[in-house]
Amino acid sequence: MNPNEDPLADEGLAFEVGRSDWKQTRFVEGPVPDLAPGQVLFRVDRFALTANNISYALSGDSLGYWRFFPCEAGWGRIPVMGFAEVIRSTHPEVAEGTRCFGFYPMARHLVIQPGIVSPAQIVDAAPHRAGLAPVYAQYLPTTGDAVYAERREDAILLMRGLFMTSFLADDFLADQDYRGARSVVISSASSKTSIALAFQVKQTGHARAIGLTSARNAEFVRALGFYDRVVLYDEIASLAQEPAVFVDMAGDGAVTAAVHRHFGDALQYDCAIGATHWSAARNSAGLPGPKPEFFFAPAQIVKRSKDWGPQRLSERLAAAWTKFCDASDAWLHVVRSDGRAALERVYQDTLAGRTDPADGHIVSL
Ligand SMILES: NC(=O)c1ccc[n+]([C@@H]2O[C@H](COP(=O)([O-])OP(=O)(O)OC[C@H]3O[C@@H](n4cnc5c(N)ncnc54)[C@H](OP(=O)(O)O)[C@@H]3O)[C@@H](O)[C@H]2O)c1
Repeated sequence: MNPNEDPLADEGLAFEVGRSDWKQTRFVEGPVPDLAPGQVLFRVDRFALTANNISYALSGDSLGYWRFFPCEAGWGRIPVMGFAEVIRSTHPEVAEGTRCFGFYPMARHLVIQPGIVSPAQIVDAAPHRAGLAPVYAQYLPTTGDAVYAERREDAILLMRGLFMTSFLADDFLADQDYRGARSVVISSASSKTSIALAFQVKQTGHARAIGLTSARNAEFVRALGFYDRVVLYDEIASLAQEPAVFVDMAGDGAVTAAVHRHFGDALQYDCAIGATHWSAARNSAGLPGPKPEFFFAPAQIVKRSKDWGPQRLSERLAAAWTKFCDASDAWLHVVRSDGRAALERVYQDTLAGRTDPADGHIVSL
């Protein structure tokens, strides 16, 4: 957006996908929303789009992701991490000009109804959010966010949430001494979440990170230097049959079966996190080895808040994030684009798994 333009003259615009066929998309235009008393209007500056957002569509019904930004029946607004500015406020504690990191629709505007407001967070208490994960209702003003750095904005959009999951997943496994295993086998090794996990496993230093990936992404994954070994999905049988834990970012029944059949009883734990291969069926029925268990990051946050205290947990997370960001400058290639056609292209490429894994797409509408 041109800063000299009046932001309120800007028309409303939102990107929606068909809830039963995510390849189907449309842009919905409309006036900039009016505010009731106590509300805040954000103008979304830019947002990141990765496979993680496609998982929100996959879990749209089961985990409620379609309910964050309600729209016409049959259509859905997939949530994304973005930065946005308050351009109008009828809430006494929220000033116009406040810039916040948070969960937005792929749209130009979002209206929220703040409940709790502090220098560190503005929490949307809109009734349609009732029962949804509280973490997604938090909008973090850049001025009260210890992790914020202007030069890191794109990395924050692309990887902050993903890194946090991987930090907690490694911590969860390390806390149990990786169940006695010394190898962590990670699928969709080229995904940003897996890259962050491999980085953390290496930092913790008690296990080796082994990446599983597709042929087109193998060279990129090897060049990262974060994995001790990288094999293709059809080379799983070449791995040593020693005790291992599997962290599954792909959610692909065929990959899960190959890992379980190869390691058998040597597989100590199957930690299901992602579903990048969303069009493949997730299936683990009748396989040897442990039953997959979904990783629940909030439980690890609760545990470490008790063990270390919330302040120490935040400090550790912030320190680890800074290290990861510094190390990511060498591989992450931020690709910024603007407008409807760019969003449509980035979305369809992300959905189909056609994006280059080094690219981190940031889009503005
Ligand atoms: N449960 C949680 O709390 C949580 C939190 C964060 C992330 N996650 C999950 O972690 C996963 C990774 O997310 P990300 O944002 O880090 O991903 P990303 O960086 O966008 O990952 C891209 C990679 O995923 C694979 N991929 C993506 N789309 C595909 C498709 N249509 N067909 C086949 N392969 C495809 C490819 O890897 P390969 O060729 O290497 O397979 C591709 O290089 C997501 O499923 C996300 O939901 C879960």
